[in-house]
Amino acid sequence: MSVVGVIGAGAMGRGIAQVAATAGWEVQLFDIDDKVTEEAMAFIQKMLNRSVEKGRITDQDYRAITSRIYTTNSYEAFAECDMVIEAIVENLEIKQQVFKAVEKVVTGECILATNTSSLSVASIGSACEDPTRVCGIHFFNPPVLMKLVEIIPAVQSSNEVVNQANDWIRSWGKLTVLAKDTPGFIVNRVARPFYGEALRIYEEGIANPETIDWVMTEKAGFRMGPFTLMDYIGHDVNYKVTSTVYEAFYYDQRYKPSFAQKSLVDAGYLGRKSGQGFYNYGENEQAKNINKNEALAKEILERIVVMLINEAADALFWNVASANDIELAMTKGVNYPKGLLAWANEIGIQNCVDRLDALYDLYREDRYRCSPMLRRMGVEKSSFRL
Ligand SMILES: NC(=O)c1ccc[n+]([C@@H]2O[C@H](COP(=O)([O-])OP(=O)(O)OC[C@H]3O[C@@H](n4cnc5c(N)ncnc54)[C@H](O)[C@@H]3O)[C@@H](O)[C@H]2O)c1
Repeated sequence: MSVVGVIGAGAMGRGIAQVAATAGWEVQLFDIDDKVTEEAMAFIQKMLNRSVEKGRITDQDYRAITSRIYTTNSYEAFAECDMVIEAIVENLEIKQQVFKAVEKVVTGECILATNTSSLSVASIGSACEDPTRVCGIHFFNPPVLMKLVEIIPAVQSSNEVVNQANDWIRSWGKLTVLAKDTPGFIVNRVARPFYGEALRIYEEGIANPETIDWVMTEKAGFRMGPFTLMDYIGHDVNYKVTSTVYEAFYYDQRYKPSFAQKSLVDAGYLGRKSGQGFYNYGENEQAKNINKNEALAKEILERIVVMLINEAADALFWNVASANDIELAMTKGVNYPKGLLAWANEIGIQNCVDRLDALYDLYREDRYRCSPMLRRMGVEKSSFRL
Protein backbone atom coordinates (compact mmCIF):
# COMPACT_ATOMS: atom_id res chain seq x y z
CA MET A 1 0.00 0.00 0.00
CA SER A 2 1.29 3.48 -0.84
CA VAL A 3 1.82 5.83 2.08
CA VAL A 4 1.48 9.62 2.21
CA GLY A 5 2.58 11.85 5.06
CA VAL A 6 0.51 14.99 5.61
CA ILE A 7 2.07 17.76 7.69
CA GLY A 8 -0.45 20.14 9.23
CA ALA A 9 -3.91 18.83 10.17
CA GLY A 10 -5.76 22.14 9.73
CA ALA A 11 -8.41 22.97 7.14
CA MET A 12 -6.34 21.72 4.20
CA GLY A 13 -4.30 18.90 5.75
CA ARG A 14 -7.31 17.03 7.15
CA GLY A 15 -9.07 17.24 3.78
CA ILE A 16 -6.01 16.01 1.92
CA ALA A 17 -5.72 13.11 4.40
CA GLN A 18 -9.36 12.14 3.77
CA VAL A 19 -8.91 12.30 -0.01
CA ALA A 20 -5.80 10.10 0.09
CA ALA A 21 -7.27 7.52 2.51
CA THR A 22 -10.46 7.33 0.45
CA ALA A 23 -8.30 6.57 -2.60
CA GLY A 24 -6.74 3.62 -0.74
CA TRP A 25 -3.54 5.24 0.52
CA GLU A 26 -2.27 4.89 4.05
CA VAL A 27 -1.91 8.30 5.69
CA GLN A 28 0.40 9.55 8.44
CA LEU A 29 -1.19 12.79 9.63
CA PHE A 30 1.12 15.09 11.60
CA ASP A 31 0.60 18.37 13.45
CA ILE A 32 2.68 20.16 16.08
CA ASP A 33 -0.51 20.49 18.08
CA ASP A 34 -1.89 17.10 19.23
CA LYS A 35 -5.28 18.66 19.85
CA VAL A 36 -5.49 19.59 16.16
CA THR A 37 -4.78 16.03 14.98
CA GLU A 38 -7.49 14.75 17.35
CA GLU A 39 -9.94 17.34 16.04
CA ALA A 40 -8.95 16.48 12.48
CA MET A 41 -9.70 12.77 13.02
CA ALA A 42 -13.08 13.62 14.57
CA PHE A 43 -13.77 15.94 11.63
CA ILE A 44 -12.88 13.30 9.04
CA GLN A 45 -15.07 10.74 10.86
CA LYS A 46 -17.95 13.21 10.86
CA MET A 47 -17.57 13.88 7.14
CA LEU A 48 -17.38 10.17 6.31
CA ASN A 49 -20.36 9.46 8.56
CA ARG A 50 -22.35 11.95 6.55
CA SER A 51 -21.33 10.10 3.36
CA VAL A 52 -22.57 6.84 4.91
CA GLU A 53 -25.89 8.48 5.82
CA LYS A 54 -26.25 9.78 2.28
CA GLY A 55 -25.50 6.31 0.91
CA ARG A 56 -22.34 7.44 -0.89
CA ILE A 57 -20.15 4.94 0.97
CA THR A 58 -20.86 1.81 3.00
CA ASP A 59 -20.14 1.15 6.69
CA GLN A 60 -17.38 -1.11 5.53
CA ASP A 61 -15.83 1.70 3.43
CA TYR A 62 -16.04 3.96 6.48
CA ARG A 63 -14.08 1.48 8.60
CA ALA A 64 -11.52 0.82 5.86
CA ILE A 65 -10.89 4.52 5.17
CA THR A 66 -10.58 5.57 8.82
CA SER A 67 -8.35 2.60 9.60
CA ARG A 68 -5.88 3.83 6.98
CA ILE A 69 -5.33 7.20 8.73
CA TYR A 70 -2.74 7.30 11.53
CA THR A 71 -2.01 10.42 13.57
CA THR A 72 1.51 11.20 14.72
CA ASN A 73 3.59 13.91 16.33
CA SER A 74 6.93 12.59 15.13
CA TYR A 75 8.53 12.87 11.70
CA GLU A 76 9.89 9.32 12.21
CA ALA A 77 6.45 8.13 11.07
CA PHE A 78 7.34 9.37 7.56
CA ALA A 79 10.16 6.83 7.11
CA GLU A 80 8.03 4.61 4.83
CA CYS A 81 6.28 7.42 2.93
CA ASP A 82 6.18 7.56 -0.87
CA MET A 83 5.17 11.21 -0.71
CA VAL A 84 4.83 13.87 2.00
CA ILE A 85 2.51 16.85 1.51
CA GLU A 86 3.04 19.89 3.69
CA ALA A 87 0.00 22.04 4.61
CA ILE A 88 1.19 24.14 7.56
CA VAL A 89 1.16 27.85 8.28
CA GLU A 90 1.99 30.06 5.25
CA ASN A 91 5.44 31.13 6.45
CA LEU A 92 8.56 30.54 4.36
CA GLU A 93 11.05 30.12 7.21
CA ILE A 94 8.88 27.62 9.07
CA LYS A 95 8.16 25.66 5.88
CA GLN A 96 11.89 25.56 5.06
CA GLN A 97 12.72 24.25 8.55
CA VAL A 98 10.08 21.55 8.19
CA PHE A 99 11.32 20.45 4.74
CA LYS A 100 14.90 20.29 6.04
CA ALA A 101 13.87 18.14 9.01
CA VAL A 102 11.56 15.86 7.04
CA GLU A 103 14.16 15.20 4.34
CA LYS A 104 16.38 13.63 7.03
CA VAL A 105 13.90 10.84 7.82
CA VAL A 106 12.37 9.96 4.44
CA THR A 107 13.83 7.65 1.80
CA GLY A 108 15.73 9.02 -1.21
CA GLU A 109 12.71 8.30 -3.45
CA CYS A 110 10.13 10.12 -1.35
CA ILE A 111 8.48 13.10 -3.06
CA LEU A 112 8.18 16.23 -0.91
CA ALA A 113 5.31 18.53 -1.85
CA THR A 114 3.99 21.84 -0.57
CA ASN A 115 0.39 23.02 -0.60
CA THR A 116 1.49 26.68 -0.43
CA SER A 117 -0.86 29.20 -2.04
CA SER A 118 1.48 32.14 -2.33
CA LEU A 119 5.11 31.24 -1.63
CA SER A 120 7.49 30.23 -4.38
CA VAL A 121 7.97 26.47 -4.57
CA ALA A 122 11.61 27.08 -5.54
CA SER A 123 12.26 28.90 -2.26
CA ILE A 124 10.77 26.03 -0.23
CA GLY A 125 12.68 23.43 -2.26
CA SER A 126 15.94 25.31 -1.75
CA ALA A 127 15.90 24.18 1.89
CA CYS A 128 16.41 20.55 0.80
CA GLU A 129 19.64 18.75 0.04
CA ASP A 130 17.86 17.22 -2.95
CA PRO A 131 15.54 19.95 -4.26
CA THR A 132 14.75 17.88 -7.38
CA ARG A 133 12.31 15.86 -5.24
CA VAL A 134 10.23 18.94 -4.31
CA CYS A 135 7.17 20.24 -6.17
CA GLY A 136 3.95 22.13 -5.46
CA ILE A 137 0.66 20.26 -5.10
CA HIS A 138 -1.97 22.93 -4.57
CA PHE A 139 -5.39 21.72 -3.42
CA PHE A 140 -8.44 23.98 -3.12
CA ASN A 141 -10.63 24.43 -0.10
CA PRO A 142 -12.32 22.11 0.83
CA PRO A 143 -9.99 19.48 -0.68
CA VAL A 144 -12.59 16.72 -0.53
CA LEU A 145 -15.11 18.62 -2.65
CA MET A 146 -12.92 20.65 -4.97
CA LYS A 147 -11.91 18.62 -8.01
CA LEU A 148 -8.97 20.75 -9.09
CA VAL A 149 -5.35 20.45 -8.02
CA GLU A 150 -2.57 22.62 -9.44
CA ILE A 151 0.74 20.78 -9.88
CA ILE A 152 3.66 23.20 -9.74
CA PRO A 153 7.14 22.21 -10.87
CA ALA A 154 9.80 24.46 -9.35
CA VAL A 155 12.86 25.35 -11.38
CA GLN A 156 14.74 22.57 -9.49
CA SER A 157 12.05 19.82 -9.68
CA SER A 158 12.85 16.74 -11.75
CA ASN A 159 10.40 15.73 -14.50
CA GLU A 160 10.04 12.28 -12.93
CA VAL A 161 8.92 13.78 -9.63
CA VAL A 162 6.40 16.09 -11.29
CA ASN A 163 4.99 13.31 -13.50
CA GLN A 164 4.75 10.90 -10.58
CA ALA A 165 3.04 13.49 -8.34
CA ASN A 166 0.62 14.28 -11.17
CA ASP A 167 -0.21 10.59 -11.72
CA TRP A 168 -0.77 9.95 -8.02
CA ILE A 169 -3.03 12.96 -7.51
CA ARG A 170 -5.06 11.94 -10.58
CA SER A 171 -5.37 8.44 -9.12
CA TRP A 172 -6.94 10.15 -6.06
CA GLY A 173 -9.77 11.25 -8.37
CA LYS A 174 -8.60 14.82 -8.90
CA LEU A 175 -8.28 16.87 -12.07
CA THR A 176 -4.79 18.27 -12.33
CA VAL A 177 -3.40 21.26 -14.18
CA LEU A 178 0.23 22.19 -14.59
CA ALA A 179 1.17 25.71 -13.46
CA LYS A 180 4.40 27.66 -13.59
CA ASP A 181 5.97 28.56 -10.24
CA THR A 182 4.81 32.20 -10.44
CA PRO A 183 2.74 34.25 -7.94
CA GLY A 184 -0.79 32.90 -7.49
CA PHE A 185 -0.11 30.02 -9.92
CA ILE A 186 -3.23 29.92 -12.17
CA VAL A 187 -6.35 30.36 -10.06
CA ASN A 188 -5.15 32.88 -7.48
CA ARG A 189 -3.68 35.00 -10.26
CA VAL A 190 -6.45 34.88 -12.86
CA ALA A 191 -9.22 35.37 -10.26
CA ARG A 192 -7.83 38.62 -8.85
CA PRO A 193 -10.00 41.01 -10.95
CA PHE A 194 -13.17 39.24 -9.78
CA TYR A 195 -12.50 40.85 -6.41
CA GLY A 196 -10.29 43.79 -7.41
CA GLU A 197 -12.43 45.23 -10.19
CA ALA A 198 -15.63 44.73 -8.19
CA LEU A 199 -14.06 46.61 -5.27
CA ARG A 200 -12.92 49.33 -7.61
CA ILE A 201 -16.42 49.78 -9.10
CA TYR A 202 -17.79 50.00 -5.56
CA GLU A 203 -15.10 52.46 -4.42
CA GLU A 204 -15.84 54.71 -7.39
CA GLY A 205 -19.46 54.80 -6.25
CA ILE A 206 -20.75 53.28 -9.49
CA ALA A 207 -22.77 50.61 -7.67
CA ASN A 208 -23.22 49.09 -4.22
CA PRO A 209 -22.13 45.52 -3.31
CA GLU A 210 -25.69 44.17 -3.60
CA THR A 211 -26.01 45.44 -7.15
CA ILE A 212 -22.59 44.17 -8.24
CA ASP A 213 -23.29 40.76 -6.66
CA TRP A 214 -26.68 40.63 -8.39
CA VAL A 215 -25.11 41.40 -11.78
CA MET A 216 -22.38 38.79 -11.39
CA THR A 217 -24.75 36.02 -10.29
CA GLU A 218 -27.96 36.76 -12.21
CA LYS A 219 -26.49 38.24 -15.39
CA ALA A 220 -23.02 36.68 -15.61
CA GLY A 221 -23.84 33.28 -14.07
CA PHE A 222 -21.28 33.12 -11.25
CA ARG A 223 -22.36 31.04 -8.26
CA MET A 224 -21.58 33.82 -5.80
CA GLY A 225 -21.10 37.55 -6.27
CA PRO A 226 -17.66 38.98 -5.44
CA PHE A 227 -18.75 40.67 -2.18
CA THR A 228 -20.63 37.64 -0.89
CA LEU A 229 -17.61 35.53 -1.82
CA MET A 230 -15.11 37.84 -0.10
CA ASP A 231 -17.32 37.84 3.02
CA TYR A 232 -17.33 34.05 2.84
CA ILE A 233 -13.56 33.64 2.33
CA GLY A 234 -12.83 36.23 5.05
CA HIS A 235 -11.41 39.67 4.29
CA ASP A 236 -8.24 38.96 6.28
CA VAL A 237 -7.49 35.95 4.04
CA ASN A 238 -8.59 37.54 0.74
CA TYR A 239 -6.76 40.83 1.44
CA LYS A 240 -3.59 38.91 2.37
CA VAL A 241 -3.64 36.91 -0.89
CA THR A 242 -4.16 40.11 -2.92
CA SER A 243 -1.36 41.94 -1.06
CA THR A 244 1.02 38.98 -1.44
CA VAL A 245 0.33 38.66 -5.17
CA TYR A 246 0.71 42.46 -5.57
CA GLU A 247 4.12 42.46 -3.82
CA ALA A 248 5.25 39.32 -5.63
CA PHE A 249 4.49 41.01 -8.99
CA TYR A 250 6.74 43.93 -8.02
CA TYR A 251 3.72 46.17 -7.40
CA ASP A 252 2.06 45.71 -10.77
CA GLN A 253 -0.98 48.02 -10.60
CA ARG A 254 -3.25 45.29 -11.93
CA TYR A 255 -3.12 43.58 -8.54
CA LYS A 256 -3.30 46.68 -6.32
CA PRO A 257 -5.25 45.98 -3.11
CA SER A 258 -8.28 48.08 -2.16
CA PHE A 259 -8.65 50.58 0.68
CA ALA A 260 -12.29 49.56 1.09
CA GLN A 261 -11.22 46.02 1.89
CA LYS A 262 -8.30 47.15 4.08
CA SER A 263 -10.72 49.22 6.17
CA LEU A 264 -12.84 46.15 6.79
CA VAL A 265 -9.77 44.18 7.88
CA ASP A 266 -8.62 47.04 10.14
CA ALA A 267 -12.07 47.20 11.72
CA GLY A 268 -12.23 43.44 12.29
CA TYR A 269 -15.17 43.18 9.90
CA LEU A 270 -13.85 39.95 8.43
CA GLY A 271 -17.07 38.76 6.82
CA ARG A 272 -19.34 35.87 7.67
CA LYS A 273 -17.05 34.51 10.40
CA SER A 274 -17.15 37.79 12.39
CA GLY A 275 -20.83 38.53 11.67
CA GLN A 276 -20.05 41.62 9.60
CA GLY A 277 -18.29 42.26 6.32
CA PHE A 278 -19.78 44.02 3.31
CA TYR A 279 -23.00 42.50 4.57
CA ASN A 280 -24.41 42.06 8.03
CA TYR A 281 -24.97 38.48 9.21
CA GLY A 282 -27.32 37.52 12.00
CA GLU A 283 -29.98 39.71 13.54
CA ASN A 284 -29.12 42.95 11.79
CA GLU A 285 -29.27 41.55 8.26
CA GLN A 286 -30.33 44.42 5.96
CA ALA A 287 -32.81 44.40 3.11
CA LYS A 288 -31.02 44.33 -0.25
CA ASN A 289 -31.00 47.53 -2.26
CA ILE A 290 -30.34 46.41 -5.83
CA ASN A 291 -30.23 48.75 -8.81
CA LYS A 292 -31.44 46.64 -11.75
CA ASN A 293 -30.79 49.26 -14.42
CA GLU A 294 -29.86 47.36 -17.61
CA ALA A 295 -27.18 49.80 -18.79
CA LEU A 296 -25.52 49.78 -15.37
CA ALA A 297 -25.62 45.96 -15.22
CA LYS A 298 -24.00 45.77 -18.66
CA GLU A 299 -21.25 48.20 -17.65
CA ILE A 300 -20.44 46.25 -14.45
CA LEU A 301 -20.55 42.84 -16.12
CA GLU A 302 -18.39 43.83 -19.07
CA ARG A 303 -15.84 45.60 -16.94
CA ILE A 304 -15.27 42.70 -14.54
CA VAL A 305 -15.45 39.98 -17.20
CA VAL A 306 -13.11 41.74 -19.61
CA MET A 307 -10.57 42.27 -16.82
CA LEU A 308 -10.78 38.55 -15.97
CA ILE A 309 -10.32 37.67 -19.64
CA ASN A 310 -7.31 39.98 -19.83
CA GLU A 311 -5.76 38.22 -16.83
CA ALA A 312 -6.38 34.77 -18.32
CA ALA A 313 -4.94 35.84 -21.69
CA ASP A 314 -1.91 37.35 -19.97
CA ALA A 315 -1.31 34.15 -17.98
CA LEU A 316 -1.27 32.35 -21.32
CA PHE A 317 1.00 35.03 -22.79
CA TRP A 318 3.51 34.38 -19.97
CA ASN A 319 3.25 30.59 -20.35
CA VAL A 320 1.91 30.14 -16.84
CA ALA A 321 -0.18 27.26 -18.17
CA SER A 322 -1.75 25.93 -21.36
CA ALA A 323 -5.01 27.44 -22.63
CA ASN A 324 -6.91 24.27 -21.73
CA ASP A 325 -5.44 24.14 -18.23
CA ILE A 326 -6.37 27.79 -17.65
CA GLU A 327 -9.94 27.00 -18.68
CA LEU A 328 -10.06 23.89 -16.51
CA ALA A 329 -8.55 25.71 -13.53
CA MET A 330 -11.16 28.47 -13.53
CA THR A 331 -14.17 26.25 -14.18
CA LYS A 332 -13.20 23.44 -11.76
CA GLY A 333 -11.09 25.32 -9.20
CA VAL A 334 -13.44 28.24 -8.61
CA ASN A 335 -16.56 27.10 -10.51
CA TYR A 336 -16.64 29.90 -13.09
CA PRO A 337 -19.69 29.58 -15.37
CA LYS A 338 -17.43 29.17 -18.40
CA GLY A 339 -13.78 29.29 -19.31
CA LEU A 340 -12.49 32.86 -19.68
CA LEU A 341 -10.78 32.21 -23.02
CA ALA A 342 -13.96 30.64 -24.42
CA TRP A 343 -15.81 33.69 -23.09
CA ALA A 344 -13.35 35.94 -24.95
CA ASN A 345 -14.06 34.05 -28.18
CA GLU A 346 -17.77 34.50 -27.59
CA ILE A 347 -17.50 38.25 -26.98
CA GLY A 348 -14.99 38.62 -29.82
CA ILE A 349 -11.30 39.27 -29.15
CA GLN A 350 -11.29 42.73 -30.75
CA ASN A 351 -14.34 43.72 -28.66
CA CYS A 352 -12.39 42.77 -25.53
CA VAL A 353 -9.42 44.83 -26.71
CA ASP A 354 -11.68 47.84 -27.43
CA ARG A 355 -13.31 47.61 -24.01
CA LEU A 356 -9.92 47.46 -22.26
CA ASP A 357 -8.56 50.34 -24.35
CA ALA A 358 -11.60 52.44 -23.43
CA LEU A 359 -10.91 51.81 -19.73
CA TYR A 360 -7.23 52.61 -20.26
CA ASP A 361 -8.06 55.85 -22.10
CA LEU A 362 -10.36 56.93 -19.32
CA TYR A 363 -8.08 56.12 -16.37
CA ARG A 364 -4.60 56.23 -17.90
CA GLU A 365 -3.60 53.55 -15.38
CA ASP A 366 -1.35 50.63 -16.14
CA ARG A 367 -3.98 48.46 -14.45
CA TYR A 368 -6.06 48.57 -17.64
CA ARG A 369 -3.32 47.75 -20.14
CA CYS A 370 -4.41 45.15 -22.62
CA SER A 371 -2.39 41.91 -22.72
CA PRO A 372 -0.21 41.64 -25.87
CA MET A 373 -1.83 38.22 -26.34
CA LEU A 374 -5.26 39.76 -26.89
CA ARG A 375 -4.00 42.69 -28.94
CA ARG A 376 -2.05 40.43 -31.28
CA MET A 377 -5.01 38.10 -31.71
CA GLY A 378 -7.30 41.07 -32.35
CA VAL A 379 -5.03 42.24 -35.17
CA GLU A 380 -4.81 38.72 -36.57
CA LYS A 381 -8.60 38.31 -36.23
CA SER A 382 -7.98 34.95 -34.57
CA SER A 383 -9.58 33.31 -31.56
CA PHE A 384 -8.38 30.97 -28.79
CA ARG A 385 -8.05 27.35 -29.91
CA LEU A 386 -9.52 25.25 -27.12
N1 LIG B 1 -7.32 27.53 3.53
C1 LIG B 1 -7.31 27.61 2.21
O1 LIG B 1 -8.28 28.04 1.57
C2 LIG B 1 -6.10 27.14 1.45
C3 LIG B 1 -6.25 26.75 0.13
C4 LIG B 1 -5.14 26.26 -0.57
C5 LIG B 1 -3.89 26.24 0.06
N2 LIG B 1 -3.78 26.66 1.36
C6 LIG B 1 -2.43 26.57 1.97
O2 LIG B 1 -2.39 25.40 2.77
C7 LIG B 1 -1.55 25.61 3.91
C8 LIG B 1 -2.35 25.34 5.17
O3 LIG B 1 -3.49 26.16 5.20
P1 LIG B 1 -4.72 25.87 6.17
O4 LIG B 1 -5.81 26.78 5.74
O5 LIG B 1 -4.96 24.41 6.26
O6 LIG B 1 -4.14 26.39 7.56
P2 LIG B 1 -4.64 26.02 9.05
O7 LIG B 1 -4.22 27.17 9.89
O8 LIG B 1 -6.05 25.58 9.05
O9 LIG B 1 -3.75 24.74 9.43
C9 LIG B 1 -2.36 24.79 9.56
C10 LIG B 1 -1.94 23.74 10.55
O10 LIG B 1 -0.53 23.63 10.56
C11 LIG B 1 -0.09 23.40 11.88
N3 LIG B 1 1.30 23.78 11.97
C12 LIG B 1 1.83 25.02 12.06
N4 LIG B 1 3.16 24.96 12.10
C13 LIG B 1 3.49 23.64 12.02
C14 LIG B 1 4.70 22.93 12.00
N5 LIG B 1 5.87 23.55 12.09
N6 LIG B 1 4.64 21.60 11.89
C15 LIG B 1 3.47 20.94 11.81
N7 LIG B 1 2.28 21.57 11.83
C16 LIG B 1 2.30 22.91 11.93
C17 LIG B 1 -1.01 24.20 12.74
O11 LIG B 1 -1.07 23.69 14.06
C18 LIG B 1 -2.35 24.06 11.99
O12 LIG B 1 -3.10 22.99 12.51
C19 LIG B 1 -1.01 27.02 3.76
O13 LIG B 1 0.22 26.97 3.11
C20 LIG B 1 -2.06 27.70 2.90
O14 LIG B 1 -1.53 28.79 2.18
C21 LIG B 1 -4.85 27.08 2.07
